[in-house]
Amino acid sequence: MPEKASDFIPLSEVPLTNTWKGMEAALEQGLAKHIGVSNFNENQLKEIKASAVHKPEMNQVEMHPFLQQEALQSFCVKNDILLTAYAPLGSLVDDNSTLRLLENDTIKNIAKARHMSPAQVALAYTIQRGIAVIPKSINEARLLQNLETLNHTLTEEDMALLKDLDKGHRFIDGKFWEVENGPYTADSIWNA
Ligand SMILES: NC(=O)c1ccc[n+]([C@@H]2O[C@H](COP(=O)([O-])OP(=O)(O)OC[C@H]3O[C@@H](n4cnc5c(N)ncnc54)[C@H](OP(=O)(O)O)[C@@H]3O)[C@@H](O)[C@H]2O)c1
Repeated sequence: MPEKASDFIPLSEVPLTNTWKGMEAALEQGLAKHIGVSNFNENQLKEIKASAVHKPEMNQVEMHPFLQQEALQSFCVKNDILLTAYAPLGSLVDDNSTLRLLENDTIKNIAKARHMSPAQVALAYTIQRGIAVIPKSINEARLLQNLETLNHTLTEEDMALLKDLDKGHRFIDGKFWEVENGPYTADSIWNA
């Protein structure tokens, strides 16, 4: 993990397109089977695609009912780029946040009605939007519970109620990349 300004490489020194050329070389040399990106917004995807020989197959971004990123999803669908949702349960990295995805009343009510856990409702929502999810757990029972989400289906009415929960809220806000005199701010990362 970079800690001070000199640990970072600014984009002015190594643009994303150069890094992508290295990713393509890894693919062409058989060192990687699939190549993709993470935390890319639409502008960054367009920048890569403009000179790419192989487009990114996947973009892994934070996604859950509080951060639905519909515009990014429709761009990715149109451009045949798959999406993976990280922190699909709202993570627990941000202990200072008063927002708790799995304690949301709409999620809890749907969970009760469908005999699911709140975590399963959150995962099912994103899965039914056509997005891969990577929940993390160190607990065997919760790992199983998360896998068993695939045995449940939310109704159209549930999906509509969950769609209304979008707040554009990032639990992982990128502030940890902000260091004194460093080349990045959280704002420059998300809005580049
Ligand atoms: N590409 C990126 O920039 C990026 C950024 C962040 C994260 N990620 C990846 O995304 C994955 C998940 O992210 P995350 O761990 O931050 O968030 P998450 O999966 O949304 O949340 C993990 C938290 O939820 C708890 N949990 C798991 N299953 C549960 C269940 N069924 N009921 C209640 N609580 C449950 C876990 O606790 P227990 O372990 O105690 O069950 C843990 O505290 C990780 O593999 C991570 O590496 C990628």
